[in-house]
Amino acid sequence: MQINPNDEECCEPSILEVSDLTVIRSGKVVLQDIDLTVHKGEFIGLVGPNGSGKSTLLLSLLGVLKPHKGSISIYGNKPNSRNFFGRIGWVSQAASNLPSQVRLTVRELVRLGTLNNSNLFSWADNGRSEKVTRAIRMVGLEDVENVDVSRLSGGQRQRAVIARALATEAEFLLLDEPLVGMDNNARNSLLKLLDQLCHEADKTILMVSHDLTAIRQTAHRMIFLEEKIRFDGPTHLFPDLETLAGLRGITPTHEGPIHIHSIPQSEEVR
Ligand SMILES: Nc1ncnc2c1ncn2[C@@H]1O[C@H](COP(=O)(O)OP(=O)(O)OP(=O)(O)O)[C@@H](O)[C@H]1O
Ligand SMILES: [Mg+2]
Repeated sequence: MQINPNDEECCEPSILEVSDLTVIRSGKVVLQDIDLTVHKGEFIGLVGPNGSGKSTLLLSLLGVLKPHKGSISIYGNKPNSRNFFGRIGWVSQAASNLPSQVRLTVRELVRLGTLNNSNLFSWADNGRSEKVTRAIRMVGLEDVENVDVSRLSGGQRQRAVIARALATEAEFLLLDEPLVGMDNNARNSLLKLLDQLCHEADKTILMVSHDLTAIRQTAHRMIFLEEKIRFDGPTHLFPDLETLAGLRGITPTHEGPIHIHSIPQSEEVR
């Protein structure tokens, strides 16, 4: 089910066009018949069960995995093109689980995001410090910029790795499970930050999450992926559990209403 009113109405240009994509990993079809268009400024939640191909899709967009069939055009180029170097920021699954022996301040970690082929062994600043300051400010970590990342909370660490992606001045952020392990407050404030990046800083976000409830509160558009795209449309039209089961080909086990066994008296109060 692909409901995309945006295609006709959206005045923003498309930055990603995926057509008829199939990806095979270790001989197994992981993604099949994927058609997808992303417009500038969208905030898209990508959901689906474990092993459904979410990370595979992101890695394909980044040019890490080669399609078996179909095409990907990102900013009008093939993935891997040098033309969009720095325009795409990727925060991998568990990126914020930095090993405890990594001793870097927030500022140093974010500065790593500004490294590229041409400045790798250079001391020249060429505006890098300013980019780092701007990225740290965007995620609200100014107060801890000189603190060792190992001393940050999980939510702050996640902000730091997002800032590292932003330091390249990335316009399109691919985030793989950034909400994992966060408490309620940290999650709410990260979602608010991402929403602001979208609305105020003109970023486009494609975010994988298992936290369906949280992502539905924030994303403008939802994609449910399970080898194929089972749903793609505005968040308010995301299907209820029963419809979703139908779209996934899960048939009901019970004919009538589910029978709930009564609890034996002795086990009732434990
Ligand atoms: N390096 C790999 N080589 C071969 N197959 C892989 C590899 N990585 C993942 N797969 C397989 O590809 C399928 C999709 O994996 P993928 O990591 O994209 O799923 P996912 O939706 O991101 O899952 P999760 O929610 O657990 O992160 C799975 O069946 C997985 O076993
Ligand atoms: Mg994954």
